[in-house]
Amino acid sequence: MFIYAANWKMRMPFDQAMEFCKENYKDLVFLAKQDGKNLILFPEFTHIKALCDMFEGTNVIIGAQDCSQNSLGAFTGEVSAISLCQVGCQYCLVGHSERRAHCNETSAVIAEKILRLSSQGIIPILCVGESKRDFLSKTSECVVKDQLESVLETLKNDLNGRLFIAYEPIFSIGTGIVPENSHIEKIFDLIVNVGKKFGLNDKIGLMYGGSIDESNAKNIKEIKNLQGFLMGGISLDFKNFKKIVEL
Ligand code: PGA
Repeated sequence: MFIYAANWKMRMPFDQAMEFCKENYKDLVFLAKQDGKNLILFPEFTHIKALCDMFEGTNVIIGAQDCSQNSLGAFTGEVSAISLCQVGCQYCLVGHSERRAHCNETSAVIAEKILRLSSQGIIPILCVGESKRDFLSKTSECVVKDQLESVLETLKNDLNGRLFIAYEPIFSIGTGIVPENSHIEKIFDLIVNVGKKFGLNDKIGLMYGGSIDESNAKNIKEIKNLQGFLMGGISLDFKNFKKIVEL
């Protein structure tokens, strides 16, 4: 199964998202029905219920971009994994570099979120990735290893179900820059090894994200063990997004 994940970030307000999905409904449903393909849309929280209703009875999956680290309680403004599950959300992004940078998300918080999600049967997609500076100073593996270990250590035996790891080099997000496949493969090997160390390798799936577009997707797809694409910018442009899913 190969995942095509559309991370709309905060770029698709409610009316636009509804229009996008209505306009492309038939195509989205058709693409999601293809063997071996999982199509997941990640809108803002406010759209999730409406989109789950719209795609009910189809294979189009709706995910969330984040969730609270807490269970129910006095946490004004947060959105629980319990509610996400109740409205039909099946996947959730965690630890995206934009959240790490703008909301100071730490590994401890990220690990809590993964546990909340997995206890609700929502599959987390944990994002990891190094900065350009790390890449240039050849410390990519070290940085990603730290990001992973500090989260996986906390999960230990408490992770139910699967966990996807999306490798997203920060310098690749929204820039048009994509590292060589050999670099991505090296990071994937590292992820597999860290997963093994914590006894989680059977549960882990590998994804790549960062400037995927219709010109590079075919080449990136050659990467050994790759199980999905996490797409930002390109997912807002249905024609090109469709081309990638059709590859
Ligand atoms: P991009 O974003 O495809 O626009 O580079 C990817 C992401 O942030 O998940």
